[in-house]
Amino acid sequence: MSRPWNFCAGPAALPQPVLEQAASEMLDWHGTGMSFMEMSHRSPEVVATVEEAEACLRRLLQISDDYAVLFVQGGASSQFAAVPLNLGGKGGSFAYSNTGQWSRKAQAEGARYGEAHEVIAATSDIPRAIPTQDQWTVPDDAAFLHITPNETIDGIEFHWVPEVDAPLVADMSSTILSRPIDVEAYDVIYAGAQKNIGPAGFAIVIVRRELYGRTMAACPSMFSWEVADKAGSMYNTPPTYSLYLAGLVFAWIEQQGGLAAMAQNNRAKAELLYGAIDGSDFYGNPVAVADRSWMNVPFTLADAELDKVFLAEADAAGLLNLKGHRSVGGMRASIYNAIPRDAVNDLIEFMSDFEARHG
Ligand SMILES: Cc1ncc(COP(=O)(O)O)c(C=O)c1O
Repeated sequence: MSRPWNFCAGPAALPQPVLEQAASEMLDWHGTGMSFMEMSHRSPEVVATVEEAEACLRRLLQISDDYAVLFVQGGASSQFAAVPLNLGGKGGSFAYSNTGQWSRKAQAEGARYGEAHEVIAATSDIPRAIPTQDQWTVPDDAAFLHITPNETIDGIEFHWVPEVDAPLVADMSSTILSRPIDVEAYDVIYAGAQKNIGPAGFAIVIVRRELYGRTMAACPSMFSWEVADKAGSMYNTPPTYSLYLAGLVFAWIEQQGGLAAMAQNNRAKAELLYGAIDGSDFYGNPVAVADRSWMNVPFTLADAELDKVFLAEADAAGLLNLKGHRSVGGMRASIYNAIPRDAVNDLIEFMSDFEARHG
């Protein structure tokens, strides 16, 4: 079945083979006569499926046993609270880098639980850029430093890992699984599921187990990483169907050649799209070349009056969800793992045709 290309920032397109497999298994999962979502989370089948999803994720990201891999509920936004609740119990302030809107949301939530400092902010002048490490000052008493490696709305991304003494926490919601990462360079990685992982509503937390014991007394059990770890991510009834789908996505990534293959493809897609934007006076991108996101590509038209026409024509051409976030306007193409190179080529062809007609 041929479907339009969906450039949504999230919930985002999922790989078509995954959706087809899920559809074929919807009424009768592996001969059980039940849909996966109708089965007890304590059944051996569901437990084994979730364990295999975790094992596959561990293989993809080469995660050692020093780290727990947790499936938790409430999306990435719940982790904005879970981070200080799990790491702030021994005192100290909280340090945040501010590279965009999601960083600011994380910091605002952190400020509910303690003193939350902004250690750096991306420049607001265009092109926007991330300050180099020599410009950062992390407070000596920081219980953690929180960064957002990829800002989904702003399209700005770290292509390096800050080196700090404090535990390094990264919200990788919109970049996880887009390429190999050195998990050991971080202490906590979390990611909402709805981009490169699966359906919206849950999150993955990869946490260095050594950090247990720093939990604030007020931390709800549902937010405690240690509690989730001890319960095998089943402290309460987890979103089993979403975890099953995530397992299919991980297996699909593995079949495609793993994260090295994802990286190669994602880099090529991003280069194609930024190349088209930079090669035209009609389109623009506000981010410094070195800090541009591979996953979320915001762009503006020379004449904002044309935005609505662009979106309507793109929609009619089968190029969906290109509207920029409501807070920034313009356009944004999110080109996560499930978006093939053909989709990006079709978008570029459309952009060039639109420019020829309206530029
Ligand atoms: C970087 C980042 N962090 C956090 C979130 C919030 O995720 P959720 O809606 O799953 O809570 C998003 C959602 O798009 C995001 O892009």
